[in-house]
Amino acid sequence: MSQLFRLKSLDRMLGEAERGQSLKRTLGPFQLTILGIGAIVGAGIFSTIGTAAAGGAGHTGAGPAIVASFVLTAIVCGFAALCYAEFAAMVPIAGSAYTYAYATLGELVAWIIGWDLIIEYAVGNVAVAISWSGYFQELLRNMGIGFPAWLGTDYRSAAMAARQVAEAAAAGIDPASLGPAVTLAAQALAEAPRLAGLPIVFNLPAFTIVMLITWVLVIGIKESAWVTTGTTFLNVGIILFFVVVGIFYVKPANWTPFAPHGFTGIWGAAAIIFFAYIGFDAVSTAAEETRHPQRDMPIGMISSLVICTLIYIAVAIVLTGLLHWTQLGTAQPLATAFSAIGMNWAAGVISVGAVFACTSVLMVFQLGQPRIFFSMARDGLLPQWAAKIHPKYRTPHVTTILTGVVVALFASVTNINEVVELTNIGTLFAFALVSAGIIVLRYVDPGRKRPFRTPFVPLVPLLSIFSCLWLAVQLPLVTWWRFIAWLAAGLVLYFLYGYRHSRLREENN
Ligand code: ALA
Repeated sequence: MSQLFRLKSLDRMLGEAERGQSLKRTLGPFQLTILGIGAIVGAGIFSTIGTAAAGGAGHTGAGPAIVASFVLTAIVCGFAALCYAEFAAMVPIAGSAYTYAYATLGELVAWIIGWDLIIEYAVGNVAVAISWSGYFQELLRNMGIGFPAWLGTDYRSAAMAARQVAEAAAAGIDPASLGPAVTLAAQALAEAPRLAGLPIVFNLPAFTIVMLITWVLVIGIKESAWVTTGTTFLNVGIILFFVVVGIFYVKPANWTPFAPHGFTGIWGAAAIIFFAYIGFDAVSTAAEETRHPQRDMPIGMISSLVICTLIYIAVAIVLTGLLHWTQLGTAQPLATAFSAIGMNWAAGVISVGAVFACTSVLMVFQLGQPRIFFSMARDGLLPQWAAKIHPKYRTPHVTTILTGVVVALFASVTNINEVVELTNIGTLFAFALVSAGIIVLRYVDPGRKRPFRTPFVPLVPLLSIFSCLWLAVQLPLVTWWRFIAWLAAGLVLYFLYGYRHSRLREENN
């Protein structure tokens, strides 16, 4: 029993990281902020904003009040970021929330959080890869290049679209009115080659991009940090292009009624577009590659969150002004808005931006996940082979390749909306646990040096915990069940493996 709550001492962790197989320290505050923006801006603002505003087939979304959803979610993330910043400055070690939990809440909670972070990082990346693929195909179409529909989506989305088309036809509605995305997905099923009678439908671009990124990351952080900086500048530039060009075509009539479903719509959308903010916490996974982590971690996290919030609010205002909110429920809403007003060239530019934005998110999370596995293996909670570092490239290549293959496979066969909801519940849970950790550590270790202090403890951490839970409650029941099943599987694994092999346990026996 006592082992479950055994803490790994902070001093020991810092010492281990200093001595051990450490990573190269090359990053400063500017690169960290760029890394944060690169991790944050992606599928959320380019894809899920549409679903959140329109709200599926029943149009139960936030409508133009999606702007309010963005503000509220930013506040929730702001509370969490203030808590993350205290930890990141105090425990500047790869492994993020997993490491913080090991130092404060004990081994069992650390394991749960590490296991939970797989949802944020790896499952989140499944969604981002699917969004990447959607915009990539949009770009090809824009350039007049055909791409086989059965190689561009997953079976479930194709089957769902085919059903919608059949229902529309039966009701005497023109299936084309469902929009090009639905028509195309339905076409995938009709055109798919068959193997023993089963249609073969899978998302080839999503698979390929994840594998390519995995390769870049095995080669090394220097190259990948450079790529991330380049793509981040480009994608922020293209979002600003959307705002600056779009503003001239806004029809204020589209903004009324402002909140068609009142607060229910606003909170429901907030729980979905929360996805757009995930990533500021990923800055902490680069702690061991940062020159002055105590000072720069909080700067990187908080400034990237603030910059992204401002960008998102501007995009939300312009997007809902360009096109009526009920028509925004596509996988590529920003491109859809421009196409709908006949500006295909602008839709093409946006698609380029989205492809780059999703690429940089994929980079950061594919970089972060293996480092969390790496920390867990270093502590003995996962097998030792996962903690191997490549002799030449000095990267955790085993876990990088493993993460890449699993994410690529899932990205080629799953539906984006379900993956987004699962990612959100998992991340909200991690945020809540980290915030709880801040309160606990202030009591059990008040004298420790805190280069950054979360203000108004315990108020801010408590607000963070409650607001994260509030957002999670807005998510569908099925998402909760999936999440609970995931946690249960993690517990079984812990008691079968981690509990017995934990370094702390071995040393104390
Ligand atoms: N915030 C990241 C994105 O929207 C996960 O793609």
